[in-house]
Amino acid sequence: MINVSVIGATGYAGAEIVRLLVNHPHVNITCLTSKQYSGMNYSDVYPSMRGVVDIKCQEFEPDIIAEKSDIIFLALPHKLSMETAKSLFKYKKKIIDLSADFRFKNALTYESVYDRHLAPELLEHSTYGLSEVFFNNISKAQIIGNPGCYPTSVLLALIPLIKEKLIHSETIIIDSKSGVSGAGRELSLPTHFCEANEGFKAYKVAEHRHIPEIEEYLSDAAEKPIHVTFVPHLVPMNRGILSTIYADLTDHGRAKTIRECLLSFYESKKFVRICSESILPNTSYVKATNYCDIGFKVEARKSRLILITAIDNLVKGAAGQAIQNMNIMTGIEETTGIDNCPFSV
Ligand SMILES: NC(=O)c1ccc[n+]([C@@H]2O[C@H](COP(=O)([O-])OP(=O)(O)OC[C@H]3O[C@@H](n4cnc5c(N)ncnc54)[C@H](OP(=O)(O)O)[C@@H]3O)[C@@H](O)[C@H]2O)c1
Repeated sequence: MINVSVIGATGYAGAEIVRLLVNHPHVNITCLTSKQYSGMNYSDVYPSMRGVVDIKCQEFEPDIIAEKSDIIFLALPHKLSMETAKSLFKYKKKIIDLSADFRFKNALTYESVYDRHLAPELLEHSTYGLSEVFFNNISKAQIIGNPGCYPTSVLLALIPLIKEKLIHSETIIIDSKSGVSGAGRELSLPTHFCEANEGFKAYKVAEHRHIPEIEEYLSDAAEKPIHVTFVPHLVPMNRGILSTIYADLTDHGRAKTIRECLLSFYESKKFVRICSESILPNTSYVKATNYCDIGFKVEARKSRLILITAIDNLVKGAAGQAIQNMNIMTGIEETTGIDNCPFSV
């Protein structure tokens, strides 16, 4: 069995890791940490877990956590994550960080949108955890920078097409819509029920912190710098991200080749589903699952491709992909414990 601890187990991403790990056949949950709920039963923080997870939350103490864990998930706010990773690194345990702290190869890119990087020396031991694309790097890394939720919904669709030069990379426009759990459990005015419910708004237009992450991995795929237009929106639903992505097709990029490219790139990858033209992605089809659904239409008179992707931000966009990465790092079949059946309604 793999002994696993979740640091920040009481937030939405941490709670989703716990929920999924309960059904993982090779995992033993050893420690769940929280600052404000330390000493309380986990099932008192999340009453849905009564009789399912009856562990007490504890304060983070690196030597105790290291001693009791083979794998450590960090589901903390950025900055606190790298401080925590720094205190654990010497114990040589595998760390999967859900914050942005280990997503970039270069600390300066991180610092351009987040904060001063407090552990740049650890970046050479980390790799970006987009499971379907970077399997080999993930299998060898000690630290995983688990991708952001919006970038996951965008990169899985675009990387194969950019690698095959089927779209003009300078024409990419991304319009993403996220449910409110994307903002975390911590109280804030924009996510207050009356502020978010029955409204639909764009925010951080063309200045969201996920833009450099999207651009870094698209640029790698294109082997040249790529700049995208990215507009996120807040939708009054709990979970889910729907991204609509527009790009002009190159001469090679006709509908048939787009489909062939996506199908062949994800041929052996269970969690990326290429949709038929008649049934486009919908956040409800992937709710609480690790699937990323990708659909598309070609607007023939403009030679424009319109891609539509759907993920659950808390699963493929956070906890599910993190567990997929744990499976890859430990040599377990990558779908283990996260291949639950989607809801029909
Ligand atoms: N929500 C998503 O859809 C999503 C998707 C992808 C990635 N992420 C990333 O995952 C990480 C967690 O996000 P979240 O949405 O789960 O946030 P959240 O709901 O606000 O949870 C934050 C967690 O961090 C803990 N924490 C906060 N400040 C702390 C401190 N000073 N000392 C110790 N623990 C502290 C909280 O513990 P207590 O409150 O119990 O003390 C809680 O468990 C973030 O880096 C986020 O960017 C989130």
